[in-house]
Amino acid sequence: MATSDSASIRHAVQALEAGRLVAFPTETVYGLGADAENPEAIAAVYALKGRPPDHPLIVHLAQEADISRWAEAIPSEAQKLMDAFWPGPLTLIVKRAAHIPAAVSGGQETIGLRCPSHPVAQALLSLFRNSKGGIAAPSANRFGHVSPTLARHVRDEFGDDPRLEVILDGGQSEVGIESAILDLSRMQTRGPVLLRPGKISGADIADVIGQMPGAPDVAAPRVSGSLASHYAPRTPVVLVTSSRMQATLDVLGNQGQRVALMHYSPLPEKLAATLFARFAMPLAAQAYSHDLYAALRLLDEAGADMIVVEAPQEGSAWDGVNDRLRRATYNTQGLLDALLA
Ligand code: TXA
Ligand code: MG
Repeated sequence: MATSDSASIRHAVQALEAGRLVAFPTETVYGLGADAENPEAIAAVYALKGRPPDHPLIVHLAQEADISRWAEAIPSEAQKLMDAFWPGPLTLIVKRAAHIPAAVSGGQETIGLRCPSHPVAQALLSLFRNSKGGIAAPSANRFGHVSPTLARHVRDEFGDDPRLEVILDGGQSEVGIESAILDLSRMQTRGPVLLRPGKISGADIADVIGQMPGAPDVAAPRVSGSLASHYAPRTPVVLVTSSRMQATLDVLGNQGQRVALMHYSPLPEKLAATLFARFAMPLAAQAYSHDLYAALRLLDEAGADMIVVEAPQEGSAWDGVNDRLRRATYNTQGLLDALLA
């Protein structure tokens, strides 16, 4: 059962201390957590997720945590960003303290640190070794799949796998897409680099540190969430612009394609009736990102031939959403061109 009363949080703490895995809510997405300083527990996370072992995990910390226990040579920009955005959806990549086992970083010399704002995550972190422990947690989904924003999604991903001891339920994740990841480990040579946009954009970061973060280069630390194809449902997903949406749906309908549509523009009744499934998205960026993964999962479950997504607008508030949609559609954009040719 997925719960988050104090007994289940204590149970989760005991599981972490025993080297076992727990799923817990954060304001971004649900995490699959393990003791960050226990290499065997870390190995179990990789095994359960089916994730390559050289992809580093983010370490989640309590608000009261002492950052210097986890990181070395913390740049002043990091402190400014922690003051501005923690607890919240920003992960900072800094140099890992020598005594923290390398397993959590996939062998790299850096470490990803994040202080989540969700009250259940904070309660768990405060109780785990009296705020001195760190919980390594990737999103609680199988590798490459859509991240979970509800406890039920975690159950859908892992079923009753006994390796996952507890699923804490904290309701639907507020932000809905994963944290922004900012690399500060190469300040001297490269400056700040935004490895993954999120609710916090490059522009938001520039407001605090007075410098716009750069885009990832070849030497940038590996981020599996930055693989060209990621965050993808099983049903092929394609993006269409608002202006092409109706014509595209007409053609696909005439071909007998079973289409699940994610849209925000109003649809004529007649056209809506031809769809296999649809989800009307909110117009504002934050409300849209809150619903994004739950909508993708619902449309995926409909069993259509394809999921058509009306492309949202551009602009820094939409960077995180557009990044995830590009990755979800990376392998499938050619499909639409082929069908419409
Ligand atoms: O919002 C989030 O960040 C969620 C919640 C659970 O906190 N977590 C999450 O974890 O999205 P995951 O593992 O699905 O994605 C984290 C990304 C990975 O792509 C990983 O490669 C990158 O962060 N990462 C972690 N530590 C890193 C490091 N030391 N250097 C470079 N990238 C790192
Ligand atoms: Mg993930």
